[in-house]
Amino acid sequence: MVDIKTYLKQQSDFINKVLQSYIPKGIPKELFDAMEYSLTAGGKRLRPILVLESAKAVDENINVEDFLDVALSVEFIHTYSLIHDDLPAMDDDDLRRGKPTCHKVFGEAIAILAGDGLLTYAFEMISNNKKINPDILLRVINVLSHNVGVYGMVAGQAADILESFKDIEFIHTNKTAKFISGCCQIGGLLASASEEEVKNLKNYGLYIGLAFQIWDDILDEMGDEEKVGKKLHKDKEKNKVTYPSVYGLEKSVEIAKSYVEKAKEEIKNLKNPDILLFLADYIVSREL
Ligand code: IPE
Ligand code: IPE
Ligand code: MG
Ligand code: MG
Ligand code: MG
Repeated sequence: MVDIKTYLKQQSDFINKVLQSYIPKGIPKELFDAMEYSLTAGGKRLRPILVLESAKAVDENINVEDFLDVALSVEFIHTYSLIHDDLPAMDDDDLRRGKPTCHKVFGEAIAILAGDGLLTYAFEMISNNKKINPDILLRVINVLSHNVGVYGMVAGQAADILESFKDIEFIHTNKTAKFISGCCQIGGLLASASEEEVKNLKNYGLYIGLAFQIWDDILDEMGDEEKVGKKLHKDKEKNKVTYPSVYGLEKSVEIAKSYVEKAKEEIKNLKNPDILLFLADYIVSREL
């Protein structure tokens, strides 16, 4: 039996130790500082952990050193998405990962560019990898860009801020679940998973991703600001369509838990699924 909280802490400590050295150097100081500030501000590091653990679920002997850069690249993309999500034109938030948001410290222009830089550099990092077969890397880039771009997170973020848009499942699937699913898929691809295994990881990611965003909505209503590290009760204030606003809190918890069960069902036949199974349960128990 693994204590998943301790395990995740070890993994995120490991990621934090190596992440900083990947920030591009020799660029304008303000741009570097803004990127570094948001990247190193904290966070659960869930997405890189999912890349690494999905690969290990397919092949427990895999050498993760061969694609550490790919795993870290998704944290660059995630951090970009948070910087832009917090901008005054979007959610207009002042607090992120327990610290003032990027635009509060560096101004909007540098925050926008720091986000642009993190997103673009993520793909440079992946394409610079010399260890993984280039055909696999191309597929990784394809899957990742599909899930964070106009067919994924960007569409979801647009739907999230358009008040005329009410389809909660579309919003949550696109703004959050597809990226998480993309992380699981690329982990599988890096471990030379079969098409069937990649499909299992894709569905697992979509289900835990939906559960994750539903839980984020719940925490916005019920969480502890100190633990969550962001201003709470913002969704109501901003008139956001969330699971609690559509289904109520109790039913939202139930829906999130049912997605976790579906997620676990998808991957139970992988060679080494234990951590991913524990991770799915953790999604609907986390306070942070
Ligand atoms: C926040 O993601 C944005 C959502 C999709 C809800 P996380 O909750 O993973 O944020 P960090 O990385 O831990 O700060
Ligand atoms: C997810 O939604 C944001 C991204 C996809 C970046 P939220 O707007 O609810 O995320 P938080 O609550 O600000 O972290
Ligand atoms: Mg948002
Ligand atoms: Mg937000
Ligand atoms: Mg939220």
